[in-house]
Amino acid sequence: MNLYEEQIKKLSHPPLPKRRKEEIQNLVAELLSKMTLREKIGQLFQTAPNDAHIEGLRFDDSHGTVQYIKEGLCGSILGVHTPINAYQLQRIAVEETRLGIPLFFGLDIIHGCRTIFPINLAMSCSFNPELIEKASSVAAAESAHTGISITYSPMVDVVRDPRWGRVMESNGEDSYLSRILGRAYIRGYQQDDLSGNQAIGACVKHFAGYGAVEAGREYNSVDLSDRQLRMNYLPAYQSCVDEDCASIMSSFNVIDGVPSTCNRYLLTDILRNEWGYEGFVISDYTSTFEIMNHKITTDAKEVAKLCLNAGLDHEMVSNHYITYLEELVRENQVDTHTIEESCKRILTFKYKLGLFDNPYKYIYHEPEQYMQLPEYRELALEIAKNSIVLLKNENQVLPVQKNKKVALIGPAALTKNVVGGWGGLGRVEECVSFYEGMKNSGYDVIAHEGCSFEGAEHDDQLMEEALRIAAEAEVLLLAIGEPDYLTGEWSSRSELCLTGRQLELVARLKLLGKPMIGVIFSGRPLDLTWCTDNLDGLIYGWYLGNETGNALASVISGDYNPTGKLTMSFPRRVGQIPVYYNQLPTGRPSLTGGPRDLFKSCYTDIPNSPLYPFGYGLSYTTFNYKNLRLSTNCIKGLEETVVSVDITNTGRCPGKIISQLYIEALSFSVSRPVKEFKGFEHTYLEVSETKTISFVINREMLSYLNIYNEMTPENRTYRIFIGSDSSTSDYQQLEYKE
Ligand code: GLC
Repeated sequence: MNLYEEQIKKLSHPPLPKRRKEEIQNLVAELLSKMTLREKIGQLFQTAPNDAHIEGLRFDDSHGTVQYIKEGLCGSILGVHTPINAYQLQRIAVEETRLGIPLFFGLDIIHGCRTIFPINLAMSCSFNPELIEKASSVAAAESAHTGISITYSPMVDVVRDPRWGRVMESNGEDSYLSRILGRAYIRGYQQDDLSGNQAIGACVKHFAGYGAVEAGREYNSVDLSDRQLRMNYLPAYQSCVDEDCASIMSSFNVIDGVPSTCNRYLLTDILRNEWGYEGFVISDYTSTFEIMNHKITTDAKEVAKLCLNAGLDHEMVSNHYITYLEELVRENQVDTHTIEESCKRILTFKYKLGLFDNPYKYIYHEPEQYMQLPEYRELALEIAKNSIVLLKNENQVLPVQKNKKVALIGPAALTKNVVGGWGGLGRVEECVSFYEGMKNSGYDVIAHEGCSFEGAEHDDQLMEEALRIAAEAEVLLLAIGEPDYLTGEWSSRSELCLTGRQLELVARLKLLGKPMIGVIFSGRPLDLTWCTDNLDGLIYGWYLGNETGNALASVISGDYNPTGKLTMSFPRRVGQIPVYYNQLPTGRPSLTGGPRDLFKSCYTDIPNSPLYPFGYGLSYTTFNYKNLRLSTNCIKGLEETVVSVDITNTGRCPGKIISQLYIEALSFSVSRPVKEFKGFEHTYLEVSETKTISFVINREMLSYLNIYNEMTPENRTYRIFIGSDSSTSDYQQLEYKE
């Protein structure tokens, strides 16, 4: 055991004082008064030494990390997640600098740290903020034992284009749901106080509007009207501000031609002046440097000036602040007050975490003992089951009886590589493959890859082998989709098809004439038109993390009756994108939805409707809605009405349905979406059981940014819907009078 490990072993982790806001403000002010300008600037910089390069006592100084820290020119570290490395860097900051200001350590822990939960887009299909909060608290508990003090999560970008690989990190296409789930992530990470030994900071991203990248192309431009920005994209970030998120990350894209990272309208006018945000804003990875690529300036020094004066507090990786800010102060191009305000926000965060009380709060000897606890794995299984979406079940091909001989075929059948993009510190070997899950569940299953994800020379041989195996089976289970490395950052695709020769494999298997169930592994909505037309059953399995196989087997066997609901619309083909539920009506709405509804807004070759709409997901039972009603059909001012509906389980097994509330304004001073999602309710029903669910409708729920930029419901007529997905058509009419 080396010297540092000896020292880590002696570290203690007593409960830390919960300091009041005023107390922290005084402590920060006192520390600030002792700092030089250079030291204040140093707090505004985050460097990113590669953790793998910091082994034992040797540092990879290619990033200059140690030098930055020793000179007091580093406020935080990105990417270090091994206690011994975090300890060494923290020790230098605390013991070898003039003021001993501790560092904080950031990493992207977005759907689990070592216990890996389903990708975020999958978890959003649970419509379950309680489960997501629990998952986030587990992620925080594991992270807090690896040196990490803040996670770059939740990502609450509203997304409408599945070509963009990062839809996997999101909560889907709806702003209201993203608001609810974003807050749940923050509560789970930050718990009731950041001083808690298992609490870490939440950094909400990517502010703002990154999910609207043109053509779904990574790092591309965004062009939104202010109304679109404020009605569809900003509310989720604002909800996270209201949940007191520790930090916000500026996005790579421009908003109205100005990169978010130097966009004063976003970072100061809205974030500070309208929303009163007090946390710190961090840039995305080198997004400060990239404003030169956006051609905002050719001068690196001006980068520092523009970003600081716009309201950016902390620079991730590129080092314009520590390089140029002192000179800019001397030239009166930036104000020391601005630097001090940013420095205060960083120091405040460190005080809230308790790092001044215990700089080694997050550093533990032998952290393994805190990882992958049985209760964590149980939670991962529960969330995975809730994230699975049943899309088709013809001829009751599902659930599959356990005495059936099953052939499990496809490139996702045997692989344990099911962590999914942004997999934190997850380990492939700790994942349960689809095949393992089916075996664990007691199936007589034989598995075969069938073909590669990518398309390879040996695919022909693989297919021949798979066909022979399939011929012996009673049921064919297909494990198909896209490989996990095609999801996440820098993973935009121009097509949404199954990759490689998977469709060829499936088509050849279909010739055997056996029941076929497709299970799709993906980080985004794929083009499932062929699968929908040709398979008997279809399950969206996303990338479900550690408990993938067990969760899928639980649904396939009927041990768990699927409840998931889609949070992104599925296009019929890539040419239909963007397709989303809350579109505007247009001047020529097609009542038939096309195709070929002449001189109406539609295509000549496909219907307007998505293949599967927002909110869609089947169960092994069926539900019936009836008796939709309002307590009053006219409300004024702050009055409310209650919308209710009776739901009956009309099927053959107990089940849970996630009902959704939508509204539609029949007219408004600006064109409003054809539907607006406003609430949801989980209802468990035994066979033949009926329950009534209700929602309160008030003026806030009916409000929208009108032609005068006022949030108001105006004097209008509305339709109120409750149903099992966004295509529901049963409504009650409501008058609103100011
Ligand atoms: C990346 C991502 C961002 C992430 C950051 C730090 O480029 O855009 O989501 O948090 O860098 O890893």
